Amino acid sequence: MVLHEALQQEGRGRAAEAVETAVRDEFLPFALPTIEEDEIAEVVDTLRSGWITTGPKVKRFETAFAEYVGAKHAVAVNSCTAALHIALTAAGIGPGDEVITSPLTFCSTANVVIHLGGTPVFADIGADLNIDPDEIVRRITPRTRALVPVHFSGQPCRMDEILSIARQHELVVVEDAAHAAGAKYRDQMVGNIGDVTAFSFYAIKNMTTGEGGMITTDDDALAEQMRLLTLHGISRDAWKRYTSEGSWYYEVTCPGYKDNMTDIQAALGIHQLDKLERFLAARAEYARMYDEAFAQIPEIQTPVVQDGVRHAWHLYVIQLDVERLTLDRAQFIEALRARNVGTSVHFIPVHLHPYYRERYGYKRGDLPNAERAYDRILSLPLYPRMSKEDVAYVIRAVSEIVGRSRK
Ligand SMILES: Cc1ncc(COP(=O)(O)O)c(C=O)c1O
Repeated sequence: MVLHEALQQEGRGRAAEAVETAVRDEFLPFALPTIEEDEIAEVVDTLRSGWITTGPKVKRFETAFAEYVGAKHAVAVNSCTAALHIALTAAGIGPGDEVITSPLTFCSTANVVIHLGGTPVFADIGADLNIDPDEIVRRITPRTRALVPVHFSGQPCRMDEILSIARQHELVVVEDAAHAAGAKYRDQMVGNIGDVTAFSFYAIKNMTTGEGGMITTDDDALAEQMRLLTLHGISRDAWKRYTSEGSWYYEVTCPGYKDNMTDIQAALGIHQLDKLERFLAARAEYARMYDEAFAQIPEIQTPVVQDGVRHAWHLYVIQLDVERLTLDRAQFIEALRARNVGTSVHFIPVHLHPYYRERYGYKRGDLPNAERAYDRILSLPLYPRMSKEDVAYVIRAVSEIVGRSRK
């Protein structure tokens, strides 16, 4: 949509030129990775080394990641989707089993349960946009086998309550920490809380390997099983087979998958992990700038952060008080786009997607908190590559749109 149309929709009919002069020249993308010279050099080194698939750099990355989160084991995979799938497979989820998760997540959290023949069951969210432990309790049936809390936007779920529910009902807890590398719950790093934790290193996550993921656990047997599942169920690492210490012999112990991470990806991951604390500090600083500015605007609800957590600020999600504005959320997005600001929506609640509506009969009204949030949420740009001026520009743009569209 062109600027004047967006401005017309804002409803007040003020002179477009006044705003037009304030619009930045370059589009500010919703998200961008930070890739620096050391990542590039490490990838080139990998390409020259001959080990371009799973090899010594994957091992190095796994060891460093396990140490960072304080877990006994870390298994590198090619996505968080694979991590969730492998974790739930190793936990024995199969046909007839129910797995409770949040509706406010990316579809893969629930899709993987269906791949295993299980049924994803959605429990509604609370004010912090994370799954509400009381709602989990309401959804437990004799078929419930696992809980998959999603640390939405980088804020850990209320894990004390979730773990206590899991213990009481003998459920496995697999955390979806796609957004939460570096987050803490009380004094514990995410990755060292539930039975298994799944991380994402997708391009725009807090740290990236392009595509990639990590599974962490303290459980030796689960770790062993998950490692087998990532590579065809083969009992020896492929790279060992081709080194002087290896042998040609291998055994297939289960019908595993092809979900291993490559050394090219790990080359990125090793350096991204070294920088994660710096990245998190930048994210937290920008989130604080947004918080401070939007606290002055009653039509914008800033993120609700629980006590005792270290938020990893993967996303900065505001909620628009749409009843007090002449614009709905989609029009608000267009007005920001007209000002050269990219945004996104996390997420369309999974139960509202056609497949889930048709297969499970979900409809609007079933999970009212997630649906109400969905109509209001908007993810603003938040990443270390932004400058403070970029953040200030987004604040001005949002404030101006609200100012022009107040009822
Ligand atoms: C909450 C959540 N879970 C899982 C995933 C899947 O991650 P990946 O793209 O690494 O498979 C994503 C990706 O965006 C996500 O946001």
